[in-house]
Amino acid sequence: MKNICLLGASGSIGQQTINIIRNSKEYSLKAISVGHNIEAAIAIITEFRPEFVSVACQKDKEYLQTKFPKITFACGEQGLIDVATYGEGEGLLINAVVGMIGLAPTIAAIMKKRDVLLANKETLVAGGELVMALAKQYEVNIFPIDSEHSAIYQCLLSGKREDVANLIITASGGALRDKTREELATVSLEETLKHPNWSMGKKITIDSATMVNKGLEVIEAHHLFSMPYEKIKTILHPESIIHSMVEYNDGSIIAQMSYPNMMLPIQYALTHPHHIKNEAIKMLDFINMKNLSFQAMDFSRFPMLELAYQVGKSGGILPTVYNAANEAAVDLFMRKKISFLDIEKIIFEMVKQYQTNNKIAITLNAILQIDRDVKKFIYETYEVC
Ligand SMILES: NC(=O)c1ccc[n+]([C@@H]2O[C@H](COP(=O)([O-])OP(=O)(O)OC[C@H]3O[C@@H](n4cnc5c(N)ncnc54)[C@H](OP(=O)(O)O)[C@@H]3O)[C@@H](O)[C@H]2O)c1
Repeated sequence: MKNICLLGASGSIGQQTINIIRNSKEYSLKAISVGHNIEAAIAIITEFRPEFVSVACQKDKEYLQTKFPKITFACGEQGLIDVATYGEGEGLLINAVVGMIGLAPTIAAIMKKRDVLLANKETLVAGGELVMALAKQYEVNIFPIDSEHSAIYQCLLSGKREDVANLIITASGGALRDKTREELATVSLEETLKHPNWSMGKKITIDSATMVNKGLEVIEAHHLFSMPYEKIKTILHPESIIHSMVEYNDGSIIAQMSYPNMMLPIQYALTHPHHIKNEAIKMLDFINMKNLSFQAMDFSRFPMLELAYQVGKSGGILPTVYNAANEAAVDLFMRKKISFLDIEKIIFEMVKQYQTNNKIAITLNAILQIDRDVKKFIYETYEVC
């Protein structure tokens, strides 16, 4: 039995993780967190009886404590850390919370010598250098749940690291990929949330449309695989069948393919190097599959991807600023306070502001402070609390 601590249990990745745990006798769900979805919390508690549960706010904690007196409850950011470090001995953290809020719990788990299965890409974007250095120091594995990085991990198994020419990350292009820049000026939230291939949480769906998601993934790949940015390429692949590729020096390209289904990378993170049969994952049908198509990535159409390469190469606090500005801007877009293209404008503006002040030593506190400062500035500018 592997003990699992799961952050973000009520979300899209969290629920799919729970499906896998439900159908296996190998895992025991010891601790979970949800945000505000208390209905989901009650359902998970009733089915799995975890020992420890964290929710976003105090009021929900008190309500659940009365309903389930034998379970220990916590709340807020400390609650996430308590879930990540819950229990003694063998255990895994699956971090499927959305946003920078996942960084401190990841670090806490690493310092407890606990392996981390990471869907929360913002963790590696904002704190990649710190997280990977700590993982090395504490001899902990960070295993990706993102489909692209799971694909790269699998493709890298076929060769030697020194023979890699390029990592090639594929991008579906998101809900708005066929729109011109002019058309983007007036797109609605509802249109942006209609992803053609994947069913995901709202923030990542919007990030896919702005191509920030691919930018975050490029930075994530740089940290996870110690790969220079010059060797990380991106390509449009609208069908989302090839999840990413590794190109070797002799011209050989290894690709990982499947129908788009996050159950596969979640399960593989738990079972690797084994590939286990799962009835919920449909096998790829080559004969009846339509064409696979590819297009060059156009940075003038997707300037956020180009900016991600720039902030990634600059390093320091700029990836943290890029990520924080995006989180706040996406939140404002979800609340219908700004237009789709304002997301880009805000990110550009914040990165520009911090570009000349990129010498701060990277500690967890510095990252958290920059994150707070950037978000505060944006919310104050748009008079939103
Ligand atoms: N979905 C995918 O297919 C996919 C693929 C690759 C990578 N990822 C990455 O995985 C992460 C999760 O994505 P998702 O699509 O699963 O997101 P999601 O459906 O929006 O779920 C996010 C989870 O985080 C919780 N949460 C949000 N704010 C919180 C807060 N302040 N305190 C405590 N909990 C909070 C939510 O709780 P409540 O809902 O209860 O409020 C929910 O459980 C993201 O980093 C995303 O980029 C997702």
